[in-house]
Amino acid sequence: MTAVEMGIPSVRSASLEGRPDVAHLVDRFARVARDLRVSITEKCSLRCTYCMPEAGLPAIPAERLLTAGEIVRLVEIAVHRLGVREVRFTGGEPLMRADLEHIIGGCAEKVPGIPLAMTTNAVGLEHRVRRLADAGLTRINVSLDTIDRDHFASLTRRDRLPSVLAGIRAAVAVGLAPVKVNAVLMPETLSGAPDLLQWCLDEGVALRFIEEMPLDADHEWARGSMVPAERLLSVLGARFDLDEIGRDDPSAPAVQWRVDGGAATVGIIASVTRSFCADCDRTRLTAEGTVRSCLFSDSEIDLRGALRSGADDEELAHLWRGAMWNKSAGHGIDAAGFVPPLRSMGAIGG
Ligand code: 5AD
Ligand code: SF4
Repeated sequence: MTAVEMGIPSVRSASLEGRPDVAHLVDRFARVARDLRVSITEKCSLRCTYCMPEAGLPAIPAERLLTAGEIVRLVEIAVHRLGVREVRFTGGEPLMRADLEHIIGGCAEKVPGIPLAMTTNAVGLEHRVRRLADAGLTRINVSLDTIDRDHFASLTRRDRLPSVLAGIRAAVAVGLAPVKVNAVLMPETLSGAPDLLQWCLDEGVALRFIEEMPLDADHEWARGSMVPAERLLSVLGARFDLDEIGRDDPSAPAVQWRVDGGAATVGIIASVTRSFCADCDRTRLTAEGTVRSCLFSDSEIDLRGALRSGADDEELAHLWRGAMWNKSAGHGIDAAGFVPPLRSMGAIGG
């Protein structure tokens, strides 16, 4: 298989022309990246249709995967040299790595005080969440699209809903706060959205709906069949009174809505119909150690090669700055000739 068939983008070197001489991760559109997403594996225990192919992603050979020690070192560089203020571990599914506690513990030791979060599908989480919290994990986002067991099984191609619900309850029980649930809007699960919201209200977890983006490995996404935020609002509005509050802060992707006049809210991330690219503050590291400036950009800068050939921290920081300086303005989903990226969501991390 060639690199392109495997969905591995080509790696290039970055031009720094015009970049001001500052330490943090600025780009040509004056955005500053403070929020680091680290994908640590391509493996997953589920096969959500909007993300993974049925057979899973091609396995990353062990020697191409960043080790726990390499991840900790890059996180330390991001925080101490580049101004990153929050780190989130993603996958695939981060729980698929046996050394996740080790990765989190290492980061907690090297970057104390920096929030360490994880996006997870929560399968099996109940058995590990105590150890993860003890290692230093501070926040958790669980991907859950429906509480209907049949819908869950067909959307994720696995019958694991009970384990996911147990994982969410266990996360609340060990005091991880806030626990957030992310639900991707799909036609099959739209009618169950009010039940999902009611469940989250009852369990005391914050729910956010996300418009489906063209990041499915099967390339089946179509503008005409995606569920826009407006449709969700009318479905939820039939059961709940919703009042728009706004964003928690300008770079927060979710617009919050107050539910039934109470303290609880529901968030809606209109990633496609109301893009928030202009306020994006993210930088991404793939499981293979490349910097990805945007979900939708296949241009990546390789840090793993430099790291393994002896680059020092400042050289690695310099490569990372160059990668972010060349970040594109936006996802371009609406542009004529839009081509989805080679890497699907499962290979980037949300
Ligand atoms: N569009 C929007 N969100 C997606 N996710 C996975 N694939 C997509 C997609 N095509 C979400 C998951 C999870 C996070 C990692 O990204 O549900 O919350
Ligand atoms: Fe796995 Fe998350 Fe992708 Fe679903 S969305 S297949 S849980 S990585």
